[in-house]
Amino acid sequence: MKKIKTAILISGRGSNMLSLIKACQNPDFPAEISLVISNKKDAKGLEIAQNHGIKTAFIDHKNFADRQSFDDALNHEIAQNNCEIVCLAGFMRLLTSNFTKKWQGRALNIHPSLLPEFKGADAVGDAIKAKAAISGCTVHFVEEEMDSGQIIAKAKVEIAPNDTKETLAAKILQHEHRIYPIALEKLACDLIKKAL
Ligand code: GRF
Repeated sequence: MKKIKTAILISGRGSNMLSLIKACQNPDFPAEISLVISNKKDAKGLEIAQNHGIKTAFIDHKNFADRQSFDDALNHEIAQNNCEIVCLAGFMRLLTSNFTKKWQGRALNIHPSLLPEFKGADAVGDAIKAKAAISGCTVHFVEEEMDSGQIIAKAKVEIAPNDTKETLAAKILQHEHRIYPIALEKLACDLIKKAL
């Protein structure tokens, strides 16, 4: 069975990355994780990926003069490994329009809110501050504008009156781990069908 080679970009813990790795272990899953790239040397996810026998690369954004050349280095590494899908999983860098255009329709991101609500780096904290009754998580295609792009999967999470940023983030994370593999499976199936 054809599996679409997939690269995951991370900056830290890598729990969503792990949920994708685990999903890909199913022989019937239409994607495989061929590469994990981190822009942070000490990202815990790098070690987790290595422990699963997955090729990793550390590309330090600080070594590049501008965003464009950093993105070119990402693209080079992704191309070397013949990846056709890119999944952002806690990757804390903004990507240039060259990158997002190149990967249009083939790059996914996961965000801990029900987009378009609470875009940005502190989505969970912002939902608590706004005293929202409901939040959740969203998997969407990556576009140049941060946390925008067509939505592929969403999950709602009720916010209890005593929820803190930490308790809410933990509740949302469980759903992230459930819906990200569903979205990757859908995209990979669509790409396989298109290639037939
Ligand atoms: C997740 O909450 C994800 O939605 C956001 O960054 C966090 C990454 O967590 N984009 P992890 O590294 O996948 O554990």
